[in-house]
Amino acid sequence: MHTDVIVERTVQTRCGELAVERPARVADPATMVIFGATGDLAKRKLLPALYNLNGDGLLPEGFAVAGLGRDAMTTDAYRQKVSSELQEFGTVTTDRIKCEWLESRLSYLRSSDFGDPAIYQRLRDMLAESTEVAGGRPPNYLFYLATPPSLFGPIVEHLSAAGLLADDGGWRRVIIEKPFGHDLDSARALNRRLAVLLKDRQIFRIDHYLGKETVQNIMAFRFANGIFEPIWNRRYIDHVQITVAEKVGVEQRGGYFERAGALRDMVQNHLFQLLALTAMEPPISFEADAVRDERVKVLNAIHPLSATEVATDVVRAQYGASADGSARPYRDEPEVAGDSRTETFVALKLLVDNWRWADVPFYLRTGKRLAARVTEVVIQFKRAPFVLFRDTPVECLPSNQLVLRMQPDEGIALRFEAKVPGPRMRLGTVQMDFDYADYFGTAPKTGYETLLYDAMNGDSTLFHRADIVEAGWTVVDPILRAWAETADGLGPYRSGSWGPPEADALLARDGREWRRP
Ligand code: BG6
Repeated sequence: MHTDVIVERTVQTRCGELAVERPARVADPATMVIFGATGDLAKRKLLPALYNLNGDGLLPEGFAVAGLGRDAMTTDAYRQKVSSELQEFGTVTTDRIKCEWLESRLSYLRSSDFGDPAIYQRLRDMLAESTEVAGGRPPNYLFYLATPPSLFGPIVEHLSAAGLLADDGGWRRVIIEKPFGHDLDSARALNRRLAVLLKDRQIFRIDHYLGKETVQNIMAFRFANGIFEPIWNRRYIDHVQITVAEKVGVEQRGGYFERAGALRDMVQNHLFQLLALTAMEPPISFEADAVRDERVKVLNAIHPLSATEVATDVVRAQYGASADGSARPYRDEPEVAGDSRTETFVALKLLVDNWRWADVPFYLRTGKRLAARVTEVVIQFKRAPFVLFRDTPVECLPSNQLVLRMQPDEGIALRFEAKVPGPRMRLGTVQMDFDYADYFGTAPKTGYETLLYDAMNGDSTLFHRADIVEAGWTVVDPILRAWAETADGLGPYRSGSWGPPEADALLARDGREWRRP
């Protein structure tokens, strides 16, 4: 076991206050094997995240990356490619020495077919060589499957057949990207397939939303403060809104998105995890299974939607052109069918059937090409009784609202009423704001740093267990089935808007409205 630690140090924040940085353990020496090393995820997220981890002193000297990709290229050419991509996609000012540290640890293996057993023999030889260089210590391998989902099962089977998964000395871990399955049956089948060859502790099902600091902060906010938890329930909360809005369209991922749609791509995983962290009971500890037990309990408590409820409580829509015509409609995107019925927007109302949340609606919405990029959880509290303000029109006495902003402008805001200065008792809405950057400064990250670091340390708290993935699909499956049975209900919305009018109607029907970020 490697024992280096970063010495605890005190840092000055932008506000001039002092904050203590906790010591963090340097990860074990390991080789990270990336399947899909020349793909988008590797260049935009994984390699910049490794660069940042090294910058934070969290990678060991004995760290290496073996990249497997389709492109014909030597290791030297791969190093050069990564070097220029780090300048382009790194989220921090790239430092030449730190780039070189990472580049010198890269090696590349061309594979035009991850189903070819010969590749795994070559990979094994390549890994054996680097083990010798490392002085023969039992090697640790972290396999990252940044590939189309159809390859997850076959790659794991080939790795196993090549003897690369037996963790009898060093550890062997596999990170599986999303989408994990296409529906409940396929997710179960994949879980079963993986379970034959891997122990549960070796499987890391990733959801990059859980790597975002501000998403993890939901737990800190709720459970490290005494004042919110007592009112975090149906007695005081009127409803919850979860918005993940994107300004971008499907970009170059039309082919993938056509098969997925926003419900599978965003709701089943990212939005459900935001919901789970917001609604879960306090775990008995921050051990991986204690936290995951509570997350899965929330998903299991979501009231399953009947076909009738799907028709009334779930809105789907697809983006059209923008008002000025500068953004094209979804159906004109590359690799998208001209008569596509894939949804790029979903809004839905869910109920969590437990004592804490009974009768409190959770309204979720996500979409591409919306008016702004914003991810936030809004806790809307119940109104104060009107006793003292009988003469104030209802709409002039808004409810308190707590907004947990995940991105951009990460922070927390509390909206409440205050007396407007003057001789009369007049009320005005004011806001108390906490801004992450003001307190902690900004250190832009890709969101993958924590997840890669945790996987290297064997900490699966922020990864999905098989039951969590299946619980998500259990909620989504009836919606997919109901949609498959009817062509109705796929309206258009303008690119650059907040979605279709039906999404507003979903809340208006209950006397509520979406917060306009
Ligand atoms: C991915 C989805 O999981 O998350 C994409 O596949 C989406 O469609 C992306 O754009 C959003 O992530 P972020 O971190 O930019 O909010």
